[in-house]
Amino acid sequence: MKFALFKSWGIRERLVSIAVVPATIMFVVVSLSLYFASRDEIRSDISERGNILAAALAESSRYAVVSGNTTPLNQTLHGLLAIDRSIISLQITDAQRTMLTSVGDNQTELAEIQVFERPIRAQIPDVDVFDKTGGPHIAAPAGQSASFKDGNAVGYVRVVMSALPVLEAKRQRVYAGLTIVLLALVVSGIAGLILARRLRDPLNSVMTSLRGIREGNYDVRLDDHQRGELGELQSTIVAMAKSLSQSRQELESQVEARTSALQNAIELANQADEERRRLIARSNVVVEEERRRIALEIHDHLNAALLFVRLESQRMGRLAALLGSNADAKEIESVADRISATTADLYDAARTITKKLRPEQIDTLGLKGALEEMLRNYRSAHPQCRFDFRAPTKFPKLTAELTITAYRVIQEALSNIVKHADASMAAVTLLAKPSQNDISITIEDDGSGFNVKKRVTAGIGLIGMRERVAAVGGSIKIVSDPNTGTKITIELPTKGG
Ligand SMILES: Nc1ncnc2c1ncn2[C@@H]1O[C@H](COP(=O)(O)OP(=O)(O)O)[C@@H](O)[C@H]1O
Ligand SMILES: [Mg+2]
Repeated sequence: MKFALFKSWGIRERLVSIAVVPATIMFVVVSLSLYFASRDEIRSDISERGNILAAALAESSRYAVVSGNTTPLNQTLHGLLAIDRSIISLQITDAQRTMLTSVGDNQTELAEIQVFERPIRAQIPDVDVFDKTGGPHIAAPAGQSASFKDGNAVGYVRVVMSALPVLEAKRQRVYAGLTIVLLALVVSGIAGLILARRLRDPLNSVMTSLRGIREGNYDVRLDDHQRGELGELQSTIVAMAKSLSQSRQELESQVEARTSALQNAIELANQADEERRRLIARSNVVVEEERRRIALEIHDHLNAALLFVRLESQRMGRLAALLGSNADAKEIESVADRISATTADLYDAARTITKKLRPEQIDTLGLKGALEEMLRNYRSAHPQCRFDFRAPTKFPKLTAELTITAYRVIQEALSNIVKHADASMAAVTLLAKPSQNDISITIEDDGSGFNVKKRVTAGIGLIGMRERVAAVGGSIKIVSDPNTGTKITIELPTKGG
């Protein structure tokens, strides 16, 4: 967390800070320590020099004080002031501290002032040996004769010095140095920026390529080829992109091969499925045709033959009755009766078989009529269950194939209801949807229901329903629930398909 700021720095910030920060710190530390160290040095140097200067001046100004001729001394003092900038003022006074001569700023209020004072002591023959006319003169200046004894102070030297001017000069030098360092920092900062740019440009191109690779663009070209580590990085990326591209191509061709194999397999399966459907549809047609033929055969030949046998046996009975009432005649009559009754049973059975094989209403009345008849039969055979039939008054005439498909499917559904559902209500609904070119059939019951998803191994009724519907290009949906019963919805296309 502490270094989060530095972590977010880019190359430019890092390089510039490397170029600028250490040099700045070094310069500031070195200059400040030198400045503070030299301050103390300057101070002690000044006190040393002040003492020496005061002593030397006390010595050399004795004659001027005694003689009262301060002009040459004044010149000397000016010279000293000019060569040493730490001297603020030089003052020479007499014994009463009356100013005889002075140079520099006497009223200074500068800080860091150091004052060095020395008495100017009389020495024999420190007397004005010449009078103003140039003749010998032994007298002391007026009013001073009493103090003119050897060793007495005849005046004072005051040297006022300060470290400030020298320090000021030193500070100016530090400022000048700082300015130079600032310039140097700017220059090295610019150098850092240029270096960062030279680093960043190839790195940017490397990053752009990496981003491209991430997005799947393996055609990497790095025109500005560098030397050293950067160059190695660039060539590694180019090599990596190349091998990635190769593996992608290999993978793609593998996927392509697998996909086309899969597509072939699907096509084959679809073809097989299609052929199977066609086969089933064809066999359904053949079976239905065969059933119709057998039904016709039974109707035309067997039933006619049975009718003939019945009529003949009845005639035989009547003839036997004409023979009188002997036992043989009675026997013949009863045999004729039995033959007649059996033939009638056979005739009924044959009619039932023909109906089952091919309900004749289907050809005469169409699907709706045949279904009405079917439901009538169910009602009389299973009075415990209510059978409803709903169909529009004008139901379109379907093709023979569609009619028999719908009929057989409904027949199987109703047979399942009476076999398995234990229902109290069953309903068949026909709906014609001319706009959508198909008819819809629903068969529902309120019975026990069953698990539609469970694979049934025993019966083939449901499978047959699905196959019949699929063979004519229709769809079937079975919904079943133990609480509500079963509902089968079938859609059959009346055109095309
Ligand atoms: N309407 C229904 N109500 C309850 N169960 C049903 C119904 N229709 C089908 N079934 C269940 O589905 C199974 C499969 O039916 P199906 O394929 O016609 O074979 P099958 O009638 O010969 O048993 C039946 O054995 C029965 O358990
Ligand atoms: Mg069944």
